[in-house]
Amino acid sequence: MPSKTHITLNTGARMPIVGLGTWKSPTDKAGRAVEYALTEGGYQHIDCAAIYKNEPEIGQALKKVFAGGTVKRGDVFITSKLWNSAHAKEKIREACEKTLRDLNLEYLDLYLMHWGLATPSHWAIPTNGQEAEYDDNGVLVMEKIPIRETWEAMEELVQGGLVKAIGVANFTAPMLIDVLSYASLPPAMNQIEIHPYFQQTRLIEFCHNKNIAVTAYSPLGSPGNFAPKGFPLVLEDAVIKKIADTHQKTSAQIVIRWALERGTVVIPKSTTPERIKENSDVFNFELSPSEMNEINLLDKKLRFLDPYVWGKIPYFD
Ligand code: A2P
Repeated sequence: MPSKTHITLNTGARMPIVGLGTWKSPTDKAGRAVEYALTEGGYQHIDCAAIYKNEPEIGQALKKVFAGGTVKRGDVFITSKLWNSAHAKEKIREACEKTLRDLNLEYLDLYLMHWGLATPSHWAIPTNGQEAEYDDNGVLVMEKIPIRETWEAMEELVQGGLVKAIGVANFTAPMLIDVLSYASLPPAMNQIEIHPYFQQTRLIEFCHNKNIAVTAYSPLGSPGNFAPKGFPLVLEDAVIKKIADTHQKTSAQIVIRWALERGTVVIPKSTTPERIKENSDVFNFELSPSEMNEINLLDKKLRFLDPYVWGKIPYFD
């Protein structure tokens, strides 16, 4: 039976391969979800971000859980992400310290550059309702800050002991190639959208070949966000459901297991206790090569999360 529960990052640190996602976890539920995940749900890994605007609530939960004594800080892997409005070198430490304060932590296990684009710093979080600014053509206004400036300042966070590892999210191969050309600390992680309808096989292969781990976000196809917009539902796919029936597992568990068997870390989001538990109960079965193949054939190259939609930026084209 499959027993691998961790990967080793290029820093040497071990990272649990299933984590709880918190994007769109509302403030009145995020804390309880994290507490449940760490105390009863079988998780040792929480994925956060400043822009999710729920870090203070998650921080209250972390404080309570660690004060309880049974779960120790050192046994939990916590990720957060630097938002686009804090890419300037003089903003980065401040942004990281704010996240640490909100999360009630002394260090992060992993800090990611959330996107490889910078926006003006006056949209700092919280944004007081003003999320972004657009030019006359409807294009998101960006700040002239090279990724190199941001990356080098993030490296200083590691040297300063605020974070154990740094990485990126939503990076394409050319962006990674650029960072790798100057990084003193190469990215430990690239967190990207991956699910059976958007498999990103070549980018995963490239990252792994460069010793950059990959985390799959929206691994269930983000049903809460995209089903209402008419996108097809991964969890309702007939092939996934058939494989789920074979294993007496749920569609979510099949999709998570598929991600793990591809060597990616996976961070399904839920604030529902039964689902939180269900999503981590994936270590007592494995998919056969032919089942993996059947799911591999489902790729529709269907990206759900696209900055063209929110900023008219063809970021991934
Ligand atoms: P909820 O948080 O209400 O439980 P993704 O991680 O791909 O973005 O998916 C998150 C969405 O999937 C949320 O809407 C979440 O709902 C839902 N979800 C999480 N786990 C499951 C599950 N095991 N079965 C069905 N839906 C799930």
